[in-house]
Amino acid sequence: MDTEHEYRPVYQTSLVDPADFWSAAAQGIEWDVEPQQIVDAADKRSARWFPDARLNTCVNALDRHVRAGTVDQGGHADQSALIYVSAMTNTTTVFTYAELLDKVAEFAGAMRDLGVVAGDRVVIYLPMIPEAVIAMLACARIGAVHSVVFGGFAAPELAARIDDAEPVLIVTASGGLEPNRRVDYPPIVLAALDLAETASVRTVLVKQRPEFTTIEFPTALPATDVLPASEQTVAARWVDWDVCVEGVAPADPVSVAATDPLYILYTSGTTGKPKGVVRDNGGHAVALTWSMRNIYDVGPGQVFWAASDVGWVVGHSYIVYAPLLVGATTVLYEGKPVGTPDAGAFWRIVDEHDVRVLFTAPTALRAIRRADPDATAAHRHDLSRLRALFCAGERLDPATFDWASNTLLADHPDTPVVDHWWQTETGWPICADPLGVQELPVKSGSTSVPVPGYRLRVLDANGNAVPTGTEGNIVIGLPLPPGCLTGLWRDRDRFIRSYLSAFPGHYVTGDSGYFDEDGYLYVLGRSDDVINIAGHRLSAGSIEAAIAGHEAVAECAVIGMPDELKGSLPLAYVVLKQGVEIDQRQLRTELDERVRAQIGAIATLHDSIIVTGLPKTRSGKILRKTIRQLTAGEHVETPPTIEDPHVLTALADRILANPPLGNNTPSPNPDSDPVSPTP
Ligand code: COA
Ligand code: AMP
Repeated sequence: MDTEHEYRPVYQTSLVDPADFWSAAAQGIEWDVEPQQIVDAADKRSARWFPDARLNTCVNALDRHVRAGTVDQGGHADQSALIYVSAMTNTTTVFTYAELLDKVAEFAGAMRDLGVVAGDRVVIYLPMIPEAVIAMLACARIGAVHSVVFGGFAAPELAARIDDAEPVLIVTASGGLEPNRRVDYPPIVLAALDLAETASVRTVLVKQRPEFTTIEFPTALPATDVLPASEQTVAARWVDWDVCVEGVAPADPVSVAATDPLYILYTSGTTGKPKGVVRDNGGHAVALTWSMRNIYDVGPGQVFWAASDVGWVVGHSYIVYAPLLVGATTVLYEGKPVGTPDAGAFWRIVDEHDVRVLFTAPTALRAIRRADPDATAAHRHDLSRLRALFCAGERLDPATFDWASNTLLADHPDTPVVDHWWQTETGWPICADPLGVQELPVKSGSTSVPVPGYRLRVLDANGNAVPTGTEGNIVIGLPLPPGCLTGLWRDRDRFIRSYLSAFPGHYVTGDSGYFDEDGYLYVLGRSDDVINIAGHRLSAGSIEAAIAGHEAVAECAVIGMPDELKGSLPLAYVVLKQGVEIDQRQLRTELDERVRAQIGAIATLHDSIIVTGLPKTRSGKILRKTIRQLTAGEHVETPPTIEDPHVLTALADRILANPPLGNNTPSPNPDSDPVSPTP
């Protein structure tokens, strides 16, 4: 085997000579000004990749593929770029590269005419429709910085992001379609604008969907349905997408510095305030391009489908940017893995559209397994062309891995099921089986090996490397490879505090885990108060803030409790204000309504339990880990720092009398699987 196709030497080279490694990878990009310097790591904490280069990410994703001509001529102009499959409207629309470029350049022209210029922020709050992809690429085209907000977030979450990013424009739609309801977006945007303190938003641009009542513009919008007249503050001008693009001159691409921001994507931290992860243009384009061939083994003309949402990092990187950067075809799916209409939805699409690699979350596989345990629906379809099934977003628990490998793909033993691990901050995988470099044996429960570019270590609380098989904090040695976050939006202090100060010289991932003797990493879960619900990352702090706003609540603690389907669900322990009497059922309903209204339905509480006190340290910190252990029925030693041991005993008795886990069998969920560090 030549060393270029062996994982170890490739990995070693990436660490020993990163400049050489990434300089070679940079050749996959069309630069306006070629990089002379590969990395400026004078300040290792915020290394700048390709600091003297210039490019346009949209040109790399679209223009150059169209410019190269048709497929016959060696280009991609007439090849499918985007296949939009909507299980909600029962439609499929295919855009060739040339068609997608036209739409993007046109919309970029419309934004330009609305006064959006390079560096301006644009919030994109859209359901899974092609306009989401078009708007993102159009921002990249004119150098505007997009900030996509997941369409399932409620008004206060949207408002928090508007306040931090200070966009000049919000792009939204008349609504999103969920299986059991329709979500009207304009009232949510209106409420968010009302909550937001910034006055930066000049325009709200609405894509009207045929499934929703057409709104006439200009109008004050259906605000009367949402807010009392006295509270309506419609300062921004509302305009119609279709009207804006009519007759507009397409926008030319704007050349930006490789280090200029491409987007801000907010993610949950420990506290309620979301963190604005900033991604640059150059490092991002290089890293994602490299990852498509080397990790996913996908190249030009092949179909890649990331069954996620554009509102999450997976959607950014692997629905929108990476597949287009390499001239592949991407699938945008509006629907669920089950119920829209059945558990065969994924496999029908894989078969019909010749998907080479499918990337999904374990929770989606668990939902399919629950609905169709024998994978009968999958077996009705031809999955023989599926090169691999990748999973991320949460740990691929061994039971689901086993089902996917041995039931779902029983007839395809050569199609690996690959768990790979990454996060919003890194933007692309940290650990994976790099199929395009060398396909390594897969180990159940492990996310495989470190991806080239990432210097991974597992440290104890004092910063010492732990022995093989011992659990600890997973950290990445600085500098981070290209494509990773360059900082938090206008908050360098928080960037340093959150990621770089705990272990000098390292970035803290917030996950804990261990390496085995073969160098495979096992990611066991978060070491902070982030809760992973159905592959969605939510902060315990923000759910607590929603609950604490209830007039009866003195204080509360939210933990993630194991759930068979979604990995974890939020569970609230609530202490009432003195003298307050309230029916437990009524409180439950009201708290749930608050969480849904302030964060979104994805954060719906599993339960809220009234308790007399919460265990705390003497400095007043709630002992969430202890509460988690008690909830899981584990034996808990009284922590030496506890303020009042009686509180712990009372809570333990309460949980014992009425276990919140009830009949919820935790076996196949990621947190509770009995994967213990190897001795
Ligand atoms: N806009 C508005 N609401 C949304 C939404 C969106 N984009 N996405 C989810 N919601 C709402 C749902 O309508 C639902 O509301 P309800 O409580 O009123 O019914 C709630 O949020 C929970 O939705 P969901 O998480 O989809 O749960 P479910 O029980 O309907 O479906 C799964 C369960 C497992 C099928 C689903 O969670 C799923 O497909 N998960 C995979 C997610 C994923 O890919 N994550 C990876 C990110 S990398
Ligand atoms: P997000 O930033 O929303 O992508 O969430 C990232 C977090 O999800 C990680 O820090 C992990 O806690 C978790 N995660 C993602 N992928 C995996 C995986 N393959 N195994 C274990 N945890 C994962």
